Amino acid sequence: MTTATKKKVSVIGLGDMGAALVRSFLQQGHTVTVWNRSTAKAAPLQEAGALVADSVTAAIAASEVVIFCVTNYPISRTLLDTPGATAALKGKLFVQLSSGTPQEARELDAWATQEGITYVDGAIMAVPDQIGRPDTVFFMSGNHDAYTQSEATLKSVAGAMQYMGTDPGAASAWDMGFLAVLFGAMSGFFHGIKLFESEGLTAAALGNMIAQLAPALGEMLKQQGDIIASGNYKVNHSSLGLCAGSMDMFIQHAKEANISTEVPTFIKGIFQRGVDAGYGSEHVAAAYKTY
Ligand SMILES: NC(=O)c1ccc[n+]([C@@H]2O[C@H](COP(=O)([O-])OP(=O)(O)OC[C@H]3O[C@@H](n4cnc5c(N)ncnc54)[C@H](OP(=O)(O)O)[C@@H]3O)[C@@H](O)[C@H]2O)c1
Repeated sequence: MTTATKKKVSVIGLGDMGAALVRSFLQQGHTVTVWNRSTAKAAPLQEAGALVADSVTAAIAASEVVIFCVTNYPISRTLLDTPGATAALKGKLFVQLSSGTPQEARELDAWATQEGITYVDGAIMAVPDQIGRPDTVFFMSGNHDAYTQSEATLKSVAGAMQYMGTDPGAASAWDMGFLAVLFGAMSGFFHGIKLFESEGLTAAALGNMIAQLAPALGEMLKQQGDIIASGNYKVNHSSLGLCAGSMDMFIQHAKEANISTEVPTFIKGIFQRGVDAGYGSEHVAAAYKTY
């Protein structure tokens, strides 16, 4: 995209993520206007070349593409209630990159439609340091024309951006599905670090091992998803009973190492519930049936 075809961009919200977006847009040669509740956060971005608006409404009015990246949707809605803000959005492309639930995204889309505002919803599948890379993923959803309008601008900071469908809640649903797995894995990872450290090994060593095994982990989870989708849990390996039993080993280790038993006890509870329901000889994915 040449400078002539680059659209002006406004970014509302200059937390860690908003600031990363601004820096990346500036590096890509966009004209960027910013606004943040705490004005001090705008100063370093102004030094980097951003224009600083003195109100949300002025920031919205300054650009063709208006990106919100604040903590959540209720805050976005409050900012949209600023006098003149909604009127200033008309004729612009409104992009919500704050995190929220699918229902919140659908409600904001309905509001935008009612107001005659072109809106596309997005979820950032990256941390601030990863913004601006060719492999950076944003999930986007909602009005397809709005997505198409956003594509060139947003792809300049998220090269692997993906459109997830016309349901405005789809981006959030995909984001929350990913985060549900990530946060569950993180809880296990932190326990794993305690386990490693109790055996004289390091957190970095566990991280490196997991990074190496990530494709195999993904394959295992995908296989479980396929089993759940098929409804056929009579798979001749990795039984739920076996996995429930191995959680006893983790609880025993935690007691021996004098570390918390919280995580293995929680997982044991889920697996045991499946065993008690009669699924012990089925694949571990059968635990899903008790959710
Ligand atoms: N950071 C990440 O790794 C990451 C990754 C993916 C998605 N996201 C999403 O990106 C969004 C922003 O994240 P972040 O990391 O930038 O968060 P953050 O550093 O905590 O920044 C939050 C932003 O929201 C603003 N804000 C909070 N309450 C407000 C209010 N009542 N009125 C006006 N503005 C308010 C803050 O303004 P002040 O500076 O004035 O407090 C700040 O600009 C979130 O929805 C987050 O889930 C973040």
